[in-house]
Amino acid sequence: MPLSSKKMLGVARRTLISGNWAPFHSHTAIVAVFNSQTQPRSLFSSNPQGKTMDPKKFALPARYQGQEKSVWVEYIQLALETKPLNLGQGFPDYACPDYVTKALAEVAQGENVLLQQYTRGFGHPRLVTALARLYSQLIGRPIDSQKEVLVTSGAYEALFSTIQGHVGPGDEVVIIEPFFDCYEPMVLTAGGKPVFVPLRPKKMDGALVSSADWVLDPEELTAAFSEKTKAIILNTPHNPLGKVFSRKELTFIADLCLRWDALCIADEVYEWLVYSPNEHIRIATLPGMWDRTITIGSAGKTFSVTGWKTGWAYGPASLMVNLQLVHQNCVYTCPTPIQVKSLNMGFEIPFYYKISKLFSPLLS
Ligand SMILES: Cc1ncc(COP(=O)(O)O)c(C=O)c1O
Repeated sequence: MPLSSKKMLGVARRTLISGNWAPFHSHTAIVAVFNSQTQPRSLFSSNPQGKTMDPKKFALPARYQGQEKSVWVEYIQLALETKPLNLGQGFPDYACPDYVTKALAEVAQGENVLLQQYTRGFGHPRLVTALARLYSQLIGRPIDSQKEVLVTSGAYEALFSTIQGHVGPGDEVVIIEPFFDCYEPMVLTAGGKPVFVPLRPKKMDGALVSSADWVLDPEELTAAFSEKTKAIILNTPHNPLGKVFSRKELTFIADLCLRWDALCIADEVYEWLVYSPNEHIRIATLPGMWDRTITIGSAGKTFSVTGWKTGWAYGPASLMVNLQLVHQNCVYTCPTPIQVKSLNMGFEIPFYYKISKLFSPLLS
């Protein structure tokens, strides 16, 4: 029998008064408190005799200081004001396929009201199953949908949960320059220390320079690793250069990870935007690397639905528990309708057919 709202109110009040929220998990009961005619006064009333707020006490916490500027916030505001052709915003230049948007509309208007409610925190069973099936084939090993896949609020949150879940004070994280801007503040917020290693142009002699001409200096990269190295963030295909790391380059990075017992955070959100003769190689497939790699993907980039902010991370269960913990205490669960139908329609069989159809205009 469900609790009546009156009873729930009692439970909620007792829980509020005792100051102990831990055993109290019912969101419905919280709603009952706020709907009630008799709001607990102490929570909402202001005290005219109270102290004025001390600005120092309410300043930005130290861990965020120095990170106030964001290129996205600043440029999007400028773009809104000046209305230029905005080439800076990172969304694909092809339309989202019809079957993806239609499926979302069906869920939104469908009869199953439960699809408008919270779903499994680590990802809707259908989507994690579809992702596990897909990446098991691509990685060449079975991936456990329940323990080795996490659905996140965009790849951004997958990066955040991975970094927060692994990096602590004193840990060094190797970041390859130029880099997607959030890597640095995320490492700093976790208390870690970014160690930058630049991609350098091999030739600048006026001949056509390709993204493959931007390379890491093996000595510089080697020097960046030490006992303190917790992780390296590898972005391939690379934003902003478009570089697709070769097997030789990935093997060099993998060897350093193995030598220094470091984690590889593989940001592969552009995994489907690779053009012949390049080949996207997942670093998790290199010998010994599955156990120390978290790979991150994005539905936004895959299906051109960046506004849906749906991403994922996959890797060994022993590492994924750390991400799950951050996620459960931050985002907890991602939007159900987006996961349940539209995206797994995209990922379910025949995935390759759909992906190749989606990208065929670009490939022809
Ligand atoms: C390299 C890279 N990683 C992660 C993201 C974030 O992706 P999402 O929109 O899924 O959060 C982006 C977005 O531009 C990106 O370029």
